[in-house]
Amino acid sequence: MAEQVTEERTTTGATRQSIATAGYRYVAGRLACSGVALDGVAERVGTPCYVYDAEGMRGRYHALSRVLAPMRAEIYYAVKANPCLAVAHLFAELGAGMDVVSMGEMERGWLAGAPMERMCFAGVSKSDAWLRAALDGSHSPLVGSALVSGGRRVEERGPIGVINAESESEIERLDAIARELGVVADYTIRLSPGVTAGANDKVRVGAKATKFGQPPEDLFAMVGRCSRLQSVCFRGLHMHIGSQIDDLSRFDAALAVLTALADRLRDAGHRVDVLNVGAGVAVSYVGEAAPSDEAYGEVLRTHLERFARDGCRIIVEPGRELVGQAGVMLTRVCHVKHAGGREIVTTDAGLNALVRPAMYGAQHTVWPVACAPEHGLDPIAPPMSTASLPTMDVVGPVCESSDVFARDWPMPRVQRGDVLAVFTAGAYGMSMAMSFNDLPLPAEVLIDASGVSVVREHQTFEALLGPTVGGLSGGRRIDLS
Ligand SMILES: Cc1ncc(COP(=O)(O)O)c(C=O)c1O
Repeated sequence: MAEQVTEERTTTGATRQSIATAGYRYVAGRLACSGVALDGVAERVGTPCYVYDAEGMRGRYHALSRVLAPMRAEIYYAVKANPCLAVAHLFAELGAGMDVVSMGEMERGWLAGAPMERMCFAGVSKSDAWLRAALDGSHSPLVGSALVSGGRRVEERGPIGVINAESESEIERLDAIARELGVVADYTIRLSPGVTAGANDKVRVGAKATKFGQPPEDLFAMVGRCSRLQSVCFRGLHMHIGSQIDDLSRFDAALAVLTALADRLRDAGHRVDVLNVGAGVAVSYVGEAAPSDEAYGEVLRTHLERFARDGCRIIVEPGRELVGQAGVMLTRVCHVKHAGGREIVTTDAGLNALVRPAMYGAQHTVWPVACAPEHGLDPIAPPMSTASLPTMDVVGPVCESSDVFARDWPMPRVQRGDVLAVFTAGAYGMSMAMSFNDLPLPAEVLIDASGVSVVREHQTFEALLGPTVGGLSGGRRIDLS
């Protein structure tokens, strides 16, 4: 991780922890990313917008690569964490593969520059159309699309590297489709190890009897039955137990189940030459401690080095830990109001732009991008006293009581027009954004050594309303006869 904290976090007490963040710094009272002042970005691009620090993401990739090197583990970027094409392209350029969970993510990963053979495809409910496009580019929705450029031809792309199958039904469909297309499809089976972990129930996905994967005993029997299928080839195991995992002992326990099953399968004569161990390492949001790369690497090495020595491929699928702290969301204060003794700051971004607080009860550090330096109020610098600060609620425009970014939050006073930064917003921010209340999707900005670029424009009202406007004149009639 980029920087670690040393003390217990308090959000409403007298001390606020420094938040660990890669390229962001307050310089003379203005928040800057790689030297670029973010109040200027907000002014030029408009709010709400997401800002991503390219060097921060590259730094995270290299740091993780270093600790995974003893196992020659391959990093497959989890596109769902931040599907921005420019971000996926940055990781593809570094040599990352892509972990995808839908046809949309697969096409995005390919457009971003990842070769099909360096992609894996998880997901519990893959349709025939998705599997066809994964095995044969001539079935891709990108055929004939102006989105494809650079001399690449989607029709000519090969099959995806590996399908992470989650059920026997899926493997049977994969076999039938592969036969029809005249190919043999490589697959792993997702293990549900009975070890689960993560920030909250919604992202804990490693329990046994759930929609995710198969428990060890079922999986073992399935491999035997599926070995009779001619157009699919079992390659190994996949697992992912949850997201925002701060307790490495959970990985340790799950890896013990995974490797015991791999040994058992090998003893029974099955090939196991891929072990994909998912991801889920926590990052710091409000100063809480997060596992170090070294400690995570050590847990993996303990279980997986012997497999790597045998030539087994080890794959990890990190999302949040690569992009989480590289992103901030900028939002402008619309009003400051007082109600029932509370100070309430309303902003132009709400759960439509960043749903994590409403959906998961997640906390983010929220702070003005311009902040008088003489007060020493810098959430990134070492722990600061918040005793003299007023507390307030920072809320969005959406008509739900859950639309609150921070409650009872000690922060310097702001006024209408000020810009706030919501930190650690690079993962599961824009990827989960929506247009609820007809609020257009935010823009995205990438800051790199070469300059500042808008890599996704604000959604226009034409794009928001265009697909529905035909309804005013009766819509498109369909003939069901
Ligand atoms: C199968 C799979 N792999 C990888 C990830 C990435 O997890 P994280 O962003 O927590 O690293 C997820 C996210 O939940 C996932 O479902």
